[in-house]
Amino acid sequence: MLTNTQSFVEKAAQLILDSNYTCAFTGAGISAESGIPPFRGEGGLWSKYNPEVLEMNFFFAHPLASWTVIKEIFYNFFTGVSPNHAHLALADWEHKGYLQSLITQNIDQLHFKAGNKEVYSFHGNSSQLICISCHQSVEATPNLLSVLPPLCNICGCVLKPDFIFFGEGIPEEAYRQSVKAAQKSQLFFIIGTSGEVSPANQIPVIAKESGAVIIEINKDKSLYTNRISDFFIQGKAGDILPEINQFILQTKAKTL
Ligand code: OAD
Repeated sequence: MLTNTQSFVEKAAQLILDSNYTCAFTGAGISAESGIPPFRGEGGLWSKYNPEVLEMNFFFAHPLASWTVIKEIFYNFFTGVSPNHAHLALADWEHKGYLQSLITQNIDQLHFKAGNKEVYSFHGNSSQLICISCHQSVEATPNLLSVLPPLCNICGCVLKPDFIFFGEGIPEEAYRQSVKAAQKSQLFFIIGTSGEVSPANQIPVIAKESGAVIIEINKDKSLYTNRISDFFIQGKAGDILPEINQFILQTKAKTL
C-alpha cells in the first residue's frame, strides 16, 4: 500500500481513464461536508446517541423512545442538506462514463440528489417508511413525522424507516447488484467509510479479490487502509475528488 497524496491524485485520474469498469463505495464521511455528522470517530453520532435505537428488539419494545432519536438523527439532520463537491464529482464521473456504479451505505439520498443513477443503496433509504405489520410503504413526510411514533393508516401499527437496523438483512437486490459490481470492477474507490460495519465491509474485499485496484480516500486511516487499499489518499473527499477531476481534464487535454 502506498501513500503520497499529490502523485496519487494524478495516478487516480490516469487509472480512471484506463478503466473499463469503475465502482465507488461510499460511507458517512462523504456526507460530512454536507453537514451530516458521521457515526464513528470524533463528533460521531454514536458518541452522542446510543446505537440501541437501531436495534429491532429495542424498537419493538420502545417505539416512541426509538423514534424520538431516529427523527433527530436521520430526519432533522437531513432536512435541507445538499450534495457537496464529492457527491457532485461522482455524478459527473457517471455522466461522463468514468463511473459505472456506486454502492452507498448512506441513507441520506445525496447521491441521487447529485444526479447519480446507478446507485445501490446497501442499507436502504430514509425517504420511505414501512409498516412493521402489513408492510405498506409510505413516503416519510414532515406531516407524518409530526406525531411520534408514526402509524400506518391501514392497520394502525408502527411505521419503521425503510433502512436497515442492526442485525437486519441487506435489501436483496442492492446486495446482489453490489456483489456483481464489486466482482466486475477494474478500479474500486472506497470513500469516507470506517469499514467497521459488516456485511457492507466485505464488498471492497470482494472487489480486491476479483482483481480490482483499490483507491481509498479518507480523512484518516480506516480498517481497509493497511489491508486492501492499493493507494490511500488522505484528505477530505470534497477536496480530493474535485482534484482528481482536474487531473482527468489535464490528462485528456494532453492526449488531444
Ligand atoms: P463511519 O462513521 O463509521 O465512518 C466515517 C468515515 O468517514 C471515517 O473513517 C472518517 O475518517 C471518514 N471521514 C469523515 N469525514 C470525512 C471527509 N470529509 N472526507 C473523507 N472521509 C471522511 O461511517 P460508515 O463507515 O459509513 O448504518 O458507517 C457504516 C454504517 O454504520 C452506516 O451506514 C450506518 C452505521 O451504523 C446504518 O445506518 C444502517
